[in-house]
Amino acid sequence: MPPSPRRRLLARVLIAIVIAIVTVIFVLMAAQFKWAGNAGHQLTTLVPQGTFSSAINTLVDPVFFVAGVVGVLVIGAIGFITWKFRERPDDDGEFPVQLHGKTSFEIGWTALPALILAAVGVFTVMTLIDLNKPEPQAMQVEVSGQQWWWAYHYDLNHDGNYKGDADITTATELVIPVGKVVELSVTSNDVIHSFWIPALNGKRDAVPGQHHPWKIQADHAGVFRGQCTEFCGLSHANMRMIVRALPQDEFDLWVANQLRTAVEPAAGSEAAAGKAVFLGQLCSSCHLINGVNNEKVADPKTGVAGQLQSGVAPDLTHLMSRGTFIGSIQNLYAPDDPNDPSLPGDPNNVSLPGNPRAALVGGPIDEALVNRPALESWLRNPPGVKPASAVPNKAGLLRGMPNLGLTEVQIDQLIAYLTTLK
Ligand code: CUA
Repeated sequence: MPPSPRRRLLARVLIAIVIAIVTVIFVLMAAQFKWAGNAGHQLTTLVPQGTFSSAINTLVDPVFFVAGVVGVLVIGAIGFITWKFRERPDDDGEFPVQLHGKTSFEIGWTALPALILAAVGVFTVMTLIDLNKPEPQAMQVEVSGQQWWWAYHYDLNHDGNYKGDADITTATELVIPVGKVVELSVTSNDVIHSFWIPALNGKRDAVPGQHHPWKIQADHAGVFRGQCTEFCGLSHANMRMIVRALPQDEFDLWVANQLRTAVEPAAGSEAAAGKAVFLGQLCSSCHLINGVNNEKVADPKTGVAGQLQSGVAPDLTHLMSRGTFIGSIQNLYAPDDPNDPSLPGDPNNVSLPGNPRAALVGGPIDEALVNRPALESWLRNPPGVKPASAVPNKAGLLRGMPNLGLTEVQIDQLIAYLTTLK
């Protein structure tokens, strides 16, 4: 029996309501990402905050619009045809007339998409050429992916060498001056990683033995988060990074502080005992503290010892000038709070929660704000915090920091020492 007109009307109304609800949900989601700022969405590409990410976004908007219109037309046509030509009880069983081979249609639906894609292609290639244009006069930084953190080597004196005495090395957090283009040379020390700060630019693969040029620029001071986007082993998900854009005067102070050698702890202090633990344990075989164990850290490529280079572990010389550690998965100052609204929302918030801005540039550290629980649990059992590779590589090296079996006294002494490294 065919459905009554009332039931048919009801079905149509229901379908219309479902379509309306789905449309509203999609529009609200788009609005949330696109127009509500990036609060709570630290890794969105849709809220560009620099020249290069804006160039990419300028491509995304029209392509999204065209794809949206085409999508609505295609899905709408499929829905309409499915509805109109559905099987009915009084069908005579005859097959509808087929359109296969209709030349005008074939040409039409081949040419139109080809034209749309060609137009998109022209603008995409233009943008790509622009993004890859070298900026030799810009500050040069080598970005090196490691299992599982990022090392940054600044060629401050512009002599083509990232690791000279006049250059600086840091880890996890890339500090740049606001508004300036910074040219990156992205590489890897072990496996393939991918460097991605979505608010500032797209992704660039970090491949061992290759140096891929890339650029970033931030329109305003702030903290821009990133994440390794190429699966690179157990702690791939724990391989995060931060770009911290500082006003030029603060950036200059940051540089001046980074160029200093480590602060020497007072004789007989707990920090001095911690320094002895650092030198006596395996710590000093991988981590460099400039002015402390330069002679122990060799350049893996040249075998030359004593260079400002952090080998297979982060340089700790100015540890406390950073806001995060352990591949940026934990805060060095206030405890981690994923819901802290001060993180990405405030465009001028250069500091992480609790991290006094002064600490960035070598100023005094408020001991009360130091995230001791995170430092302690990390030193107590690193693989428990950030899973490390259980299988040694060809060189017999484990990836990631091993459990050194430190005593609680040694851990306290080490923290006393580490927190002097500003
Ligand atoms: Cu490095 Cu994923």
